Amino acid sequence: MGDKVLIPDAGGRGVALARTLAKSSDVKQVFLAPGPGGGIRHDKISCIPIPLTHTKDLARFAKENGVALIVPGSEIPLAFGLYEQCRLYGLRIFASGPKVTALESSKIAGKQFCRIHDIPTGPWAWFKNHKDARCYIYGAEYPLVIKTDGLAEGKGVEICQDIQEAEAALEERMVRLIHQESGKRVVIEQYLGPTKNELSAHALCWGEGAEMMAMSKDQKIYKGMTGGVFAFAPVPWVTASEFSAIEHHIMRRTVHSLCQENKPLIGFLYPGLMSTSQGPKVLEINICRGGDPECQAIFEILADDYDLYHALQSCVDHKRPEPLRWKKKYAACLVMLSGGYPDPEKMRVGFPISGIEEAEREIGVVVLPAGVEENNEVLFTAKGRVLNILATADDLLGAIRITYEAADIISYEDKDYDPRISEVVKDKMRQIRA
Ligand code: GLY
Repeated sequence: MGDKVLIPDAGGRGVALARTLAKSSDVKQVFLAPGPGGGIRHDKISCIPIPLTHTKDLARFAKENGVALIVPGSEIPLAFGLYEQCRLYGLRIFASGPKVTALESSKIAGKQFCRIHDIPTGPWAWFKNHKDARCYIYGAEYPLVIKTDGLAEGKGVEICQDIQEAEAALEERMVRLIHQESGKRVVIEQYLGPTKNELSAHALCWGEGAEMMAMSKDQKIYKGMTGGVFAFAPVPWVTASEFSAIEHHIMRRTVHSLCQENKPLIGFLYPGLMSTSQGPKVLEINICRGGDPECQAIFEILADDYDLYHALQSCVDHKRPEPLRWKKKYAACLVMLSGGYPDPEKMRVGFPISGIEEAEREIGVVVLPAGVEENNEVLFTAKGRVLNILATADDLLGAIRITYEAADIISYEDKDYDPRISEVVKDKMRQIRA
């Protein structure tokens, strides 16, 4: 006996989630749809070839196979109606409906929500008319941030240093429609600080409340990409008072405000935050998904005997889960990339990968597949984000160093990763001490 779980996700975050849920003695099988493409190496986890957007097929599969819980890793299936399909088929899902997820799918809705409920965020304005947006940027202070209103696959945000850059960002979104309809409306907001001061908060939400997870930080902006290419948890420079401000003024206030609006949030709450001298401020609100690769690092430090499956089931029943417990360790996650990514013209894939088992054996890391193909037990690079290397240690710099040692051992043509994380962390620690 035992339960089956379905995780719609196409990368390393889903694999990390699957491995954590599979630790429960009540889980006998976890399906990843479509999963990372191969390289799973876990008795309880398998991949099924259903794309994230085919939500009817996902729900039908879950019904026919007696899936006890669906846990979306990615936001895409929710944007394509997975919640509604689950309602139709009578399936349990650790997620909320479109009234709640609208906060993620529209930056304007997220900002308006913060304004109404006194959730700290930076000054902002929104525009649906190119001419009005242009007038605004001529009177603005720089740098400023221009964001596509709708979903833009993590590419909607641009930091503009001057009017020329702001003109170009508006032109791309509102005239050339590089993000299609999503970019017809934009948010323009004050620049709150450098990315090194960004933080990621996560909580498990059960409608009436939120259980805080370990703080994490992802490292973005590498060779033109703005998705996370490294993450770690916890964040040693988050003080108890900053953590408390995040928990009470941002996480709980968000969940309670949603509940008051009769939109109970079931699922992950994952705001991107900026740590400022006036306290933490919300940059964006992500709902019903966790960060990639932050989740990989966070789940690595969850206590081994903590049953995350039970916790998610409690949340779906609107019940407070057992308090989360954490290892006294730091975890780091290095995302190994295909050279040229994210430019589809320059990126080349299809190369054999070697050294994974050696890195795991010799360095003690865990290597998760993220975008691979498997042929006769050999893994090949298949996407921009290829592998996730996970390491834990008693100190953060130690965990980071281990991931780089493992990355040296793993080999494939056009291998790439951001080599700067130790320096970024050392720099931040020097700044804290000064
Ligand atoms: N870590 C960035 C994201 O998941 O959106």
